[in-house]
Amino acid sequence: MRKDVATGISRRRLMKGAAALTASTAVPTGWAIAQAKPLKVGLMLPYSGTFAKLGENITFAVEMLVAEKGGKLGGREIQFVKLDDESKPENGPQNADRLVKRDQVDAIIGTVHSGVQMGIHKVVKESGTLTIIPNAGNVAVTRELCAKNVFRTSFTNWQPAYGMGLAAAKKGYKKGIWVTWDYAAGAESGAGFKEGFEKGGGQFLQSLTLKFPETNFQPLLAQIPGLGVDVVGSFFAGGGAVQFVKEYAAAGLKVPLCGSGFLTEGTLEAQGAAANGIETALHYGDGLDNPKNVAFRKAFKDKVGRDADVYAVQGYDAAQLLAIGLDAVKGNIEDEANLYKAMRAAKIDSPRGAISMAPSQNVTQNIYLRKVEGGENKVTGIAAENLADPGTGCTMA
Ligand code: PHB
Repeated sequence: MRKDVATGISRRRLMKGAAALTASTAVPTGWAIAQAKPLKVGLMLPYSGTFAKLGENITFAVEMLVAEKGGKLGGREIQFVKLDDESKPENGPQNADRLVKRDQVDAIIGTVHSGVQMGIHKVVKESGTLTIIPNAGNVAVTRELCAKNVFRTSFTNWQPAYGMGLAAAKKGYKKGIWVTWDYAAGAESGAGFKEGFEKGGGQFLQSLTLKFPETNFQPLLAQIPGLGVDVVGSFFAGGGAVQFVKEYAAAGLKVPLCGSGFLTEGTLEAQGAAANGIETALHYGDGLDNPKNVAFRKAFKDKVGRDADVYAVQGYDAAQLLAIGLDAVKGNIEDEANLYKAMRAAKIDSPRGAISMAPSQNVTQNIYLRKVEGGENKVTGIAAENLADPGTGCTMA
């Protein structure tokens, strides 16, 4: 926890101003008053652009968990402040700053895009605001830039792609490439695929990239026949994934397409037959037969009117993790030591199966191998069991 040198008070308390100071100086009355106030949770997510549906599903699932708990976590009513980050990295720091300073949120759940996450990270490392990442996979925030107040209930970009690389090599593919957007998520997933593929004896040639969120795929697809590869791996998500998979099928390439599971996640209805047979690796899959998943999928469908996907799962688990932390401190989010202790030790009953936090505060989890069949991402095996991100360089100073 960062402390102000003169007062020894955590920076978060200082930034939250008079209300928090009252709470810290007028115990027990002030504390009781603070407890009676709703807890403000900023939802900084994309509600427009290529990742809009991802942000929506995260939001629906967070709201669902809070509603299941009667609208309160740790005894505190939850009030949401929603902000559309548009997946625009250039606006990330300013948007996060608005939530922290103007809206005075107690915690942030956000976001989807790795570049925007860097902006949030800059702000919350400074302010000490509790942050739970419900998607963005950029490795730095749980590696060399890790922070006590930042937790992730999703994945690192390395995790699913590494699993896919292992699985592709195991299938006997010899030469592969990675096709993706040219930003952190694309580069880090490409590195994961390369590492897994080479570990299994495959040869990784190169990545083909285009700018985020562009969808001018034809110049990339045109290069593939000349490369002599027997597998193409890929990271795209949301609207971009829908279009890429359709154009890949329409191009009539003979090379099988695989990827991080986002390629076919929450997109199958729109992709139609173009997605049939595509194998991907992800920490979730349709038809995972555990009671939590069955109940979760039904509740989500009843609330939203569409099927749950990995984004919904990650949002639900972000709220579950927040609930575990707030229960442990009876809603007193200022008790950072005990809050973080409980969150670090959390055993979350996730729809994806039981998950826990690695020391770097990213999820340790199974990476499933899936195949698109009959409009579903059917789980066909486990690509990497209980996989933790290496968390390289994380010291939690
Ligand atoms: C990311 O930018 O980290 C990202 C975005 C969408 C995904 C996965 C990762 O589906």
